[in-house]
Amino acid sequence: MVENMGRLEASPSSNQHQIVLILDFGSQYTQLIARRLRELGVYCEIVAHDISADDVLAREPIGLIFSGGPQGVYEDRAPQPDSRIYGLGVPILGVCYGMQLAAKQFGGKVEGSDTREYGRAAIRCQQTGVLFDGLDQSQTVWMSHGDRVTNPPDGFVVTASSAEVPIAAMEDRSRGVFCIQFHPEVSHTDYGKEILRNFLSQGCRAEPDWSMTSYRNEAIDRIRAQVGDRRVLCAVSGGVDSTVVAVLLERALGDQVVAVFVDNGVLRKEEATTVLESLQGELGLNVAAVDARQRFLEQLEGIQDPEEKRRIIGRVFIEVFQEQAKKEEGLQFLAQGTLYPDVIESAPVKGPSAVIKTHHNVGGLPEELGFELVEPLRWLFKDEVRQLGRELGIPEEYIGRHPFPGPGLAVRILGEVTAERVALLQNADAVFLEELRSAGYYDKVSQAFAVLLPVKSVGVMGDGRTYENVVALRAVSTEDFMTADWSHLPYELLGHAANRIVNEVPGINRVVYDITSKPPGTIEWE
Ligand code: XMP
Repeated sequence: MVENMGRLEASPSSNQHQIVLILDFGSQYTQLIARRLRELGVYCEIVAHDISADDVLAREPIGLIFSGGPQGVYEDRAPQPDSRIYGLGVPILGVCYGMQLAAKQFGGKVEGSDTREYGRAAIRCQQTGVLFDGLDQSQTVWMSHGDRVTNPPDGFVVTASSAEVPIAAMEDRSRGVFCIQFHPEVSHTDYGKEILRNFLSQGCRAEPDWSMTSYRNEAIDRIRAQVGDRRVLCAVSGGVDSTVVAVLLERALGDQVVAVFVDNGVLRKEEATTVLESLQGELGLNVAAVDARQRFLEQLEGIQDPEEKRRIIGRVFIEVFQEQAKKEEGLQFLAQGTLYPDVIESAPVKGPSAVIKTHHNVGGLPEELGFELVEPLRWLFKDEVRQLGRELGIPEEYIGRHPFPGPGLAVRILGEVTAERVALLQNADAVFLEELRSAGYYDKVSQAFAVLLPVKSVGVMGDGRTYENVVALRAVSTEDFMTADWSHLPYELLGHAANRIVNEVPGINRVVYDITSKPPGTIEWE
């Protein structure tokens, strides 16, 4: 389980703001709880379920949330909190499994059920309950549980019930323990945000004091304090994260920042030129460009296996980057766009909430490079990075850019990567993105691109037979890129893009559209 996560270092923000700690018992929604609280202006961090009561006290939280979890509280290896936490006098919100833990702790009864209740449920609540204060009595909530509380502990009053679950919420104000069987963090729960707000304002006496403006100012102060008058190296790709990091560093340190952009030969069409122009021009960054196209393509010669391509691109990137770093005097720091989900998921022992995502190293550079790391996005979720970008005045066209994988077009060219195949794909991809933009669909989908398949098919053009390459178009809609729906683009748009690709890109005579969701597919084809 997440044993070591309690030992994750605390954010410096936690000294300056009221903080709520979320104990992670393994729910896939734990991160969502954190995002919701921050949206409500209260800073929070996720910690391991077994954080000690002493560690909790040391953080001086105004409240604790026990997350849901996949197990039953009476199972052998069911994760338990340090029971002394209940006696600290810090208000607790128990969600689902968290509610069952509290029920068990205080002498209530929790029972299993053969059927798992999953999905929307109608509840009736008592407006006298702290959590439901001021809310409609009839509400729709999102349930996802097997076990349920069948007898509340002494001192608890039942504050909501549904047809299936007579004790859908309960609370004991004198102990400061509030419990709900359903998930307030999920958007399908009508008043989820209000319920969390009630817990914060009435249960914890929170005074919301956290915003992206405060994060920006504190991040700038922290960077200055860490780096002093020394110099920082920063890899930029034109993607949202690295752009936000670079601009933040520039605001904090000015010309002590050395930004490096590496053209690895598998970027989108004209990306190297346009990204560089805008980073240097519009955003005013001091960026050194390295043209390493030849070097990458030589190393990729003859390679078919996707993971091998990833390894080669990662290795060559580090070599190029290291060589560039040597050219600069007195660099001691390396800036990275590590995000909060990466921090949580790379905790030494992963919890069940983390293993759902077995993810890629998103352009990370190894610590063996010998630099001290500056990671100003370490406590932010992806959408918060976008917000920070807006705070920094970065234009919307950067903020709204689709993600682009570190190994670039190499994992969108199935089979061997050659200069000719890169050019084919770049041209087809550019047409697709152009069509998406002009039809107003670029911002409506989360990620869109073309993929060059390793097959040829027969066609007819003019009077002649052709035997050329096939391109697949892919567009997906997703909130977190862990699951995704294929985008239902209009037929006219697809037809137009396909027509243009076949006519304008010699070497491609067939276009198909990928209608696989994730899961079972992945977003990329490799
Ligand atoms: P998949 O294909 O795993 O992609 O569904 C999920 C998201 O991750 C991106 N992706 C990568 N990003 N290095 C990266 O930096 C990689 O090797 C990599 N592979 C996939 C993908 O574009 C999508 O946004």
